[in-house]
This record gives sequence, C-alpha cells and structure tokens, in this order.
Amino acid sequence: MRNSAVRELLKLTEQPDVISFAGGLPAPETFPVERFTQAIDAVLAAHGARALQYGTTEGYTPLREMIARHSTRYGINVEPENVLLTSGSQQALDLIGKVFINPGDHILVERPTYLGALQAWNAYQAEFVAADIDDEGYVTASLEARIRSGPKFIYALPNFQNPSGVTMSATRRQALIELADHYGVPILEDDPYGQLRYEGEHVPPLVHLDSQFRSTDGVRYSGNVIYLSTFSKILSPGIRLGWIIAPAEVIQKLVQAKQGTDLHTSTLVQMAAFEVASGGFLNQHVKVIRDIYRERRDTMLEALARDFPPGVTWTRPEGGLFLWLTLPGWMDAAEVLQAAVAKKVAFVPGASFFTDGTGANTARLNFSNASPALIREGVGRLAACLRDVIARRPA
Ligand SMILES: Cc1ncc(COP(=O)(O)O)c(C=O)c1O
Repeated sequence: MRNSAVRELLKLTEQPDVISFAGGLPAPETFPVERFTQAIDAVLAAHGARALQYGTTEGYTPLREMIARHSTRYGINVEPENVLLTSGSQQALDLIGKVFINPGDHILVERPTYLGALQAWNAYQAEFVAADIDDEGYVTASLEARIRSGPKFIYALPNFQNPSGVTMSATRRQALIELADHYGVPILEDDPYGQLRYEGEHVPPLVHLDSQFRSTDGVRYSGNVIYLSTFSKILSPGIRLGWIIAPAEVIQKLVQAKQGTDLHTSTLVQMAAFEVASGGFLNQHVKVIRDIYRERRDTMLEALARDFPPGVTWTRPEGGLFLWLTLPGWMDAAEVLQAAVAKKVAFVPGASFFTDGTGANTARLNFSNASPALIREGVGRLAACLRDVIARRPA
C-alpha cells in the first residue's frame, strides 16, 4: 500500500475553487435530504430502540426482502437469504477478497478496471491478469486466453464501466458467461451504475444471463455469478449502504468475514434507507437523477468536441458517471494533471486503473458532480492545458 504522487496532487484539487472531474461524486443537489429527515424521524419514533441497537450481520430483514423483490424485477430471481447488506460495495469487494483470495491467486480484471477493487484485493496479495476491453467490453479472444491461466474469479463491470464508461454488449455478455462456464470460473459482477442509463436499451445483467444459460427452469438464480450493487449512486454515498447477491452458502461465509470486520452495517441507516426507498420513491428519484446526469454528459461531450485539440479521443458512455480520454501516445496524463491543477481543474490520470504499468496517455473524466456551466468552463481549461503541453513538446 503506497501513497502515490497522483494522490498527493489530487488532494490539492479538493479546494472549492477547483473544477473537479476527478472523483466519482454524485451531484449533491440530488440528495433527498428532506426525505431522509422524515425517514429518520419516523424510524426513531416508531422503532427507536431497535434502530439504535446492534442488528444481525446479514442486514435488516425488510431491506433484504425489498432488494430481493427489486432484483427479481430485473430478472435476478433471488430470495432474501441470497442478499447480504454491506457498508457500501467497497466493503463487498473487501469481503469477497477476504473469503476467496489466497496470496498469489490470479484475478481476471478488465484493462482498465476499477481502482478500488485493485486496492481491496492487493491487501490479500492477489495477482492480476488483465484482459483487453473495447467499446463492447471484454474482448472475447483476449478473455479466453487469460481464463486459461486459471483465475480464481473474473471481475466484470458490464454497465458504464468505471473508469472507461464502456457497456458490455449482450453478445459479449453471453460469450463471457459461456467461457466462464466452460472453464469453471466464477464471475463477480459489480454494477453500481446499472440504473443510470441515459439512452439505448437495457442489457440484461450477467447474473440473469447465467441463470438462463444453466438452469433447467430457465430463470432461477444459479450461482456462478456473484452480483454487487449499491445505494451510493441512486440515493447517497454517505450512508455507505450496498449489497451482495450470492448463493446462500457463500452468503454464510461472507457473513462470518463481515462479523470480523464490523459486526453489521448501521441499523439506523438500513432502517432509514428502507423507509426512504419505500412507496416507489426510489424509482421516481432515479428518473430525476438520470435527467440531470444526461444533460451533464451531453454538455461534456459537446464541450470536448468543441474545445479539445485533434489527436485526443474519448468514449461516449450511454450512462454512468465517467468518460475516458485517450491522449496522443507520447503524452503523459500525470504531467497534464500538473498543468491542470495550476489552472484549477482536475481529472484522474488513467495509469492507476491499469495493472500492467501502461495507460500513461489515458485519463478519466467525471461528469456527474459539476454543473453544466462548470463543465463547459473546466473542459475549456483542460483544452488549454493540452494545447500548452503540445506546444512545449520538443521537436
Ligand atoms: C465499480 C465500482 N464498484 C464499487 C464502488 C464502491 O461503491 P460504494 O460507494 O457502494 O462503496 C464504486 C464507487 O465508485 C465503483 O465505481
């Protein structure tokens, strides 16, 4: 575990006058503060002692039931016993590492992949095997070659991937399911952004396709895919509430791991989140968030097309929070960040999302946190930095 230079640089970008495309922060104006106030009041009035007491490690039963019901609507036919509440998906990643990873185990990841997963599993001394992705997700040929090396599991971010914004196509999802089945490797599907689609058709989750592929009744949850999601991007990240869907026997192991970590996720938070999400509020709320983020994504795409110099390309995400820049091959995004911080704009250089030391000329931009006006201004500043770096390049 080390503190990188980029991390130090990014600390400077936390000042209020910096336009930050660096974090993965939701727009704070979407947080339903009033609804939380009412929910917490109602929970404390009706079940105050229970809300302030220790709870079960598995989680608050009505919330587990709600998640199981909601998942079934999305084609993931599970029972409450398949659901474990966690302190954010980040804890889920850590618990999966704690239960599954022995030192030296290979974990197959996308290239690039979510930095937080690498951090969680580094602590368990995992080795990473990275397979290429393109604008349809895992490239099947690259994937098969890497699966043959016998990874412990395959980590997949099929929807609006962090960091690239890419969504895996239905065909590639099916290929992944079939390869994983053929080689007997489980899949970990991490899906914090699935509900944040701004255009195009919903693509069924891996966990659903896997059930269809292997079960005799066509739909029952089969168990080769463990699925993670979270309230962070659809309600609030500060409440630290996520969940794992897994076979009941795996949930039992994860429960033992969680007991050693934090006993259970906050009872008050789980009860309040249940109250907030009840009565169809969450569905309505997600629609509001989608409209706000769609506008921000469009604003960023328009600003990039207008301001950025030739030679820089980017992805066009159909949802989520991020898009991905590819700079000219000779350019180092960490150097661009240094210039950008001086101009009070920030982003994350892409190299930290790669496990093989490559990706120096890539970068992640977040579009959910800044207003459209600030997005235009920030992209303008970044474009000026890029032009400076290009002008300074020795002949
Ligand atoms: C792919 C992915 N997994 C997990 C997480 C962690 O989310 P949480 O806030 O639920 O811990 C994030 C957060 O950005 C993420 O992008």
